[in-house]
Amino acid sequence: MRTICVINQKGGVGKTTTAVNLAAGLSRSNKRVLLIDLDPQGNVFTSLKIRQQYDMYDALVGRQNILNCISTVAKNFDVITSKETLVKAEYYLATQDNSRMLLKNLLSKINNYDYILVDCPPSLGLLNQNAMAFCKEAFIPSSTDPLGYDALKKMGAIVNEINNTYNHDIKITKIVPTLFDKRNKICKEILVEMKEEFSRLVSTPIRMNSKVKEAPKYGKSIFSYAKSSPGAKDYGKLVEEVLDMGSIRVVQEMIA
Ligand SMILES: Nc1ncnc2c1ncn2[C@@H]1O[C@H](COP(=O)(O)OP(=O)(O)OP(=O)(O)O)[C@@H](O)[C@H]1O
Ligand SMILES: [Mg+2]
Repeated sequence: MRTICVINQKGGVGKTTTAVNLAAGLSRSNKRVLLIDLDPQGNVFTSLKIRQQYDMYDALVGRQNILNCISTVAKNFDVITSKETLVKAEYYLATQDNSRMLLKNLLSKINNYDYILVDCPPSLGLLNQNAMAFCKEAFIPSSTDPLGYDALKKMGAIVNEINNTYNHDIKITKIVPTLFDKRNKICKEILVEMKEEFSRLVSTPIRMNSKVKEAPKYGKSIFSYAKSSPGAKDYGKLVEEVLDMGSIRVVQEMIA
C-alpha cells in the first residue's frame, strides 16, 4: 500500500484538485483508493458531493470507529471527508500525548487499499504533522509562478526538518507543476527551473484548463466531467507516472 500526502503550505496551488483527480484516475486504473480530506475547508466534499454521516472529525476525536467514516464514491474509490469541525479536532489533538501520531494509529487498522491519499490544508499545523507521520510519500503541487516556486523550495527544507525533529521518514516523491499556462513566459521559465533543480521528481505539468475548474460544481472528477479535455489528458499522464513509480518499486523490492 502506498501512502501519499498531497501537501504544500501555500494555499491555492492545486492540492485538492490534484488529490481528487489522482484518486479518481488511480481508481479507474483498478487500484483501490482511499482519499482522506484533512482540511477543515472540506473541499473534497465540495468537489465530490458525497454525503457522509460521520467524517474525519468523528474519527480523530474518538467518537466513531474510522471504518464508519468511510464512504464510497465509485468503484475502487472511497473517501473520508472533513468539514469546518475539523478545526476542533486540531484543538483536541493538541491536548493528546500522541498528538502527532493519532492519524497513523487510527489508519493502522486499514490495509485493504492500494493507495491512501491525504489532501492536506495549507498550513504546517498538527493536522499536517499527522499526515506526515502517517504517509511515506509527499506529493507537492506547485504553481508555476515565482511565489509558487519559492514555496516549493521551502517545502523541501520543511520536510527535512520535520523528519529530523520527529523521526519521520516521509520522502518527497513527486512535484506536480500546476496552473501551467504555456503562453505565459514566466510559467515556462519556472518549469525549466523546477526541472533543473528537482529533475526526475517533476511530473508532467498540469495546464490551466477551465474544465478542471468547473468539474467540482457537478461533483465529478475531470475524467467523468470532460474526458477529452486538456485537464483529463494531463491528470491522465500523472496517473500513469504514479502507477509506473509503483511498478519500479515492486521490481526494486523483488531484487532487494
Ligand atoms: N489545472 C487547473 N486549471 C484551472 N483551474 C485550476 C486548475 N487547478 C486548480 N484550479 C483552480 O484553482 C483553485 C485552487 O485549487 P485547489 O483548491 O485545488 O488548491 P489547493 O492548494 O487545494 O487550495 P487550498 O490551499 O485552499 O486547499 C480552484 O479554484 C481550482 O478550481
Ligand atoms: Mg485544498
